[in-house]
Amino acid sequence: MGDGPGPSALKDMYGTVCVVTGANSGIGKETAKELARLGARVVMVCRDEARGREAREEIQAAAFQAAPSHGDTVDLHLADLAVQEEVYALGETLRADYERLDVLVNNAGVFLEEREETVDGIEATFAINHLAPFLLTHLVLPRLQETAGRAGEARVVTVSSEAHRGYSIDFDDINAEESYSPLQAHGQSKLANILFTHELARRLRDEGVLVNAVHPGMVNTNIWRGSGWFSRLARLFAWLYKRPEEGAQSVVYLAASPEVEKTGQYFNETEIVNPSPEAYDEKAAARLWRLSRKMTGLAEEGEGAESS
Ligand SMILES: NC(=O)c1ccc[n+]([C@@H]2O[C@H](COP(=O)([O-])OP(=O)(O)OC[C@H]3O[C@@H](n4cnc5c(N)ncnc54)[C@H](OP(=O)(O)O)[C@@H]3O)[C@@H](O)[C@H]2O)c1
Repeated sequence: MGDGPGPSALKDMYGTVCVVTGANSGIGKETAKELARLGARVVMVCRDEARGREAREEIQAAAFQAAPSHGDTVDLHLADLAVQEEVYALGETLRADYERLDVLVNNAGVFLEEREETVDGIEATFAINHLAPFLLTHLVLPRLQETAGRAGEARVVTVSSEAHRGYSIDFDDINAEESYSPLQAHGQSKLANILFTHELARRLRDEGVLVNAVHPGMVNTNIWRGSGWFSRLARLFAWLYKRPEEGAQSVVYLAASPEVEKTGQYFNETEIVNPSPEAYDEKAAARLWRLSRKMTGLAEEGEGAESS
């Protein structure tokens, strides 16, 4: 992406509310910082209070530096996105605390070398990288739709990855109980991000909510901190990767550029590209949607409890 979009190419976000998950580290922290500099009220979602508070100070300082008169514009909400009860509570808090939600950045993610299981009994990569953004998006969707109705637009940006290529959704062993491969689990979850993006965009067409996914490039962040062979290999090449603030540019572009007018797209940095053929499988997208509703405890469609 070269130097990326300059600030002049981005919208003035004053008066908007932007939620960023995983906002205490890496791409999420830099995305939150840039959105705050652009004038948005930034709602950070983090799982660790100390790390969250420290990052909040940094993000608020960047916002003050850009516009000293704006006051406190950075909020911190704590939620472990691996725990569905906490995602439900977060959704409720966000709906109660904010009258408008302009942007939801589903950024939080993990790369797990060993299989882990959440308290809900779900393989953790799938739970954190796919089910959490799926559920959180559903829970705040009414606010996004209302905001789009009033302000003309709202956006959902999900941070996927080129690592989705070559993988499919293993519906026969979604919990990786028979076998676990970190690359399959990660690739599958990033494919799920794009299938979800396509399906949600199809369902929300003409409602003014733009739903897109992005690969931010290879970025030198904590995601490669594991001790397994792949993380160690990834760290060997880390000097070649982008800095987090460079990686965040494309996420900010999807969140705040007036050039982004389409929905249901997959971006490699700031360019719309075709994802893998598996990402266009509408049957897989519909099946994943139904399975994800079931695994997150959302009512079956037609039962009327949740809109989608
Ligand atoms: N780095 C790359 O090269 C690259 C490439 C393609 C896509 N991506 C994607 O970019 C996104 C951001 O990753 P990053 O590279 O910036 O890594 P990172 O620095 O490790 O940031 C990940 C963020 O997600 C948070 N998180 C993880 N599990 C969570 C949970 N259960 N509940 C709440 N928050 C949780 C982390 O919180 P803690 O600090 O508490 O762990 C951290 O804030 C991920 O979706 C990743 O897949 C990264």
